Amino acid sequence: MPCSNLQTKMASKLSWVLVIFLVLIAGECKQRVDEGCNAQDLMGLTRFKAGIHVDTSGRLVKWIGHNCCQWEGVSCDNKTGRVTEIRLPGFISTNDFIVQTKMVGRLSPSITLLTSLQVIDLGGLIGLAGTIPPLIGYHLTSLRKLYLYGNNLSGPVPESIGKLSRLEELHLHENQLSGSIPASIGRLQNLNRLLLYSNRISGPIPESFANLKNLLTLDLHGNTLSRMIPEKIGALQLLQELDLSDNRLSGKLPFSLTNLTSISVMYLDTNLLEGEIPFPSSSSQMPSLGFLRLHDNRLSGRIESTIGNLVSLQRISLANNRLEGSIPSTLGNLLDLTELYLNGNRLSGQIPRSIGRLSRLMFLSLSNNLIEGLLPHELSSLQNLQALDLSFNRLNLLSVPPWLGQMPSLCRISLAGLGIRGEFPEFFRTTPGQILEIDLSVNHLTGSIPEWLGDLTRLYSLNLSRNSLISTIPDTITNLQNLGVLDLHSNKLTGPVNGVFKIGSGFPQGSLTYVDLSDNNFSGAIEQIGVGLQCRIQHLNLSHNYLTGRLPVSIGRLSSMNTLDLSYNKLGFTLPESLANVSLLEKLKLQRNRFTGEIPNGLVKLKELKELDLSDNLLVGKIPIGKPLSEFPKSCYSGNRGLCGKPLSPCKS
Ligand SMILES: *[C@@H]1O[C@H](CO)[C@@H](O)[C@H](O)[C@H]1NC(C)=O
Ligand SMILES: *[C@@H]1O[C@H](CO)[C@@H](O)[C@H](O)[C@H]1NC(C)=O
Ligand SMILES: *[C@@H]1O[C@H](CO)[C@@H](O)[C@H](O)[C@H]1NC(C)=O
Ligand SMILES: *[C@@H]1O[C@H](CO)[C@@H](O)[C@H](O)[C@H]1NC(C)=O
Ligand SMILES: *[C@@H]1O[C@H](CO)[C@@H](O)[C@H](O)[C@H]1NC(C)=O
Ligand SMILES: *[C@@H]1O[C@H](CO)[C@@H](O)[C@H](O)[C@H]1NC(C)=O
Ligand SMILES: *[C@@H]1O[C@H](CO)[C@@H](O)[C@H](O)[C@H]1NC(C)=O
Repeated sequence: MPCSNLQTKMASKLSWVLVIFLVLIAGECKQRVDEGCNAQDLMGLTRFKAGIHVDTSGRLVKWIGHNCCQWEGVSCDNKTGRVTEIRLPGFISTNDFIVQTKMVGRLSPSITLLTSLQVIDLGGLIGLAGTIPPLIGYHLTSLRKLYLYGNNLSGPVPESIGKLSRLEELHLHENQLSGSIPASIGRLQNLNRLLLYSNRISGPIPESFANLKNLLTLDLHGNTLSRMIPEKIGALQLLQELDLSDNRLSGKLPFSLTNLTSISVMYLDTNLLEGEIPFPSSSSQMPSLGFLRLHDNRLSGRIESTIGNLVSLQRISLANNRLEGSIPSTLGNLLDLTELYLNGNRLSGQIPRSIGRLSRLMFLSLSNNLIEGLLPHELSSLQNLQALDLSFNRLNLLSVPPWLGQMPSLCRISLAGLGIRGEFPEFFRTTPGQILEIDLSVNHLTGSIPEWLGDLTRLYSLNLSRNSLISTIPDTITNLQNLGVLDLHSNKLTGPVNGVFKIGSGFPQGSLTYVDLSDNNFSGAIEQIGVGLQCRIQHLNLSHNYLTGRLPVSIGRLSSMNTLDLSYNKLGFTLPESLANVSLLEKLKLQRNRFTGEIPNGLVKLKELKELDLSDNLLVGKIPIGKPLSEFPKSCYSGNRGLCGKPLSPCKS
């Protein structure tokens, strides 16, 4: 699918699929002359093995005898006979198969007996618990690579780690490590890659990091690091990847960041950073920076025109900050740009015409700013643009410019809250790209929802809420077999709602998950709902209409539903017992209808229910006893004909 979004380098959690396999090369076990290996190493390995009680790879059961240098995953120095490497990663890939294996147990501190170790690879074993041996730095002084990522290790990163002066790679990510980062890491002059992401590490980034002159990758995202980014970080001249995102870092961005001359990936998003963004003053300063994320912080000030010095930039997100001033026209110099997110700021002025030069641009979001003026026609030359979001600005569009309909790649269009008038734009019918998403909510659209809407067969999301549309829902809507989100609330739409429940019927799998038809003038009965296999609806809001008749028994088939709002209608008759089958229901709003009879006893099965309103109906009898029904306030049951029992007054027997 051509449309994707900026979610690339997220922590790629190992898929915990366990494929248990046994490789037993029977008959090949020739009894070797038992030379034995170094006694201390043998003891260390034996104790390590004893700490593991499950090994789905079957490697450790073959660790028998005394010649540990022959054991799978163990390598020795053929001069000294000492063990130099333990390589038992959880992920095993050979020519024939790839499997994720698992070890359950505790990492024995006796691993430090193997004092000649250069490489420990116990990464991705999932169930390896315990702590990193506190004295590791005193004993394993030859260690170059330490891979313990993707396990269940807890406790701190030991201070002694700073004594491993030969360490090149330290991969401890995806564990439960806590405590702060030891300042001693700054002494590791040979460290190339430091990966501590997705742990529970807190506290500051040590100032001493400025000494890590050989560091290429520093990835600390997904912890709770706090305080400032050290000013001297700019000394890491060889750093290529810096990811400090999703922490609690505060203070300003150090100006020295622009000294990171080798940097290509910089993710500092989702923190509490403030102040201005230091852009480089010349294009020689950060010549390789391709990926910059600063979104979801508290950054302020202007986007300086020096942003145009980031000549290698491909993706940039400055969204959800407090940036103000106009969008600099130098952005048009960034010819490699494919994604530009400036939404959720206080940017003003006009959209620079130079953006039309960004011929590789695929995603452009400027929504929720104070941008004014007209849409520059130059945007029409963005041949690769797939998603355009200009919603909620001060652009006064009046109508959707027809050239938008000529853009060959455009498939996601958000033009909400831009004062658009007239009918639903005809050009969507003939647009060359295949439309996936349309958001024209909060405008002044009038007239009808066109019959030809049914031709947009790839449409996934349609939001026309808060307009003045006055038609029925066309029958052709049932052709939209890919529709997942339909939001038509707050219009003046009329007629029955049933067509919506037939969307995609006749196709193997319905895709509809979100339906909001509330606050319209729909009438008639709700007929079959949840027909065929189409039971994926999670959110259904039909409130504030003129619906009549009963709630169909088939409602029980909507097993994925968590929100059902039918309030403010004229629905009647008894509530179907099958409502109890909608077991994930969290919000049930049926107030202001004409439901009669008793509350079905089965509703006590709705354990997830957090919001309930049955007020102002004609219900009678005893409120079913049990959580959560009896826990809701009285007001949820008030205004009925004759309900009694907790939380209302006891029933008269
Ligand atoms: C030691 O072993 C390595 C790899 O197993 C081999 O390449 C090397 O030639 C051996 N050296 C000696 C002195 O046997
Ligand atoms: C990790 O350890 C915790 C307790 O320390 C345990 O509850 C959890 O099941 C372990 N996870 C795995 C994947 O072994
Ligand atoms: C960054 O570079 C400037 C000028 O090249 C220099 O004065 C400053 O000390 C550097 N900062 C760091 C932290 O390396
Ligand atoms: C549709 O647009 C309205 C107004 O812009 C917004 O509040 C609502 O969340 C949108 N609906 C969906 C399903 O995203
Ligand atoms: C359903 O829609 C109405 C009117 O648009 C709104 O007030 C209400 O909050 C919505 N219900 C839920 C549960 O979102
Ligand atoms: C909505 O429906 C009600 C009752 O059917 C009717 O009185 C009202 O005029 C309708 N309003 C519009 C705008 O169609
Ligand atoms: C509700 O669930 C019960 C038992 O799980 C089943 O017999 C019944 O057919 C279901 N009703 C509906 C309408 O899905």
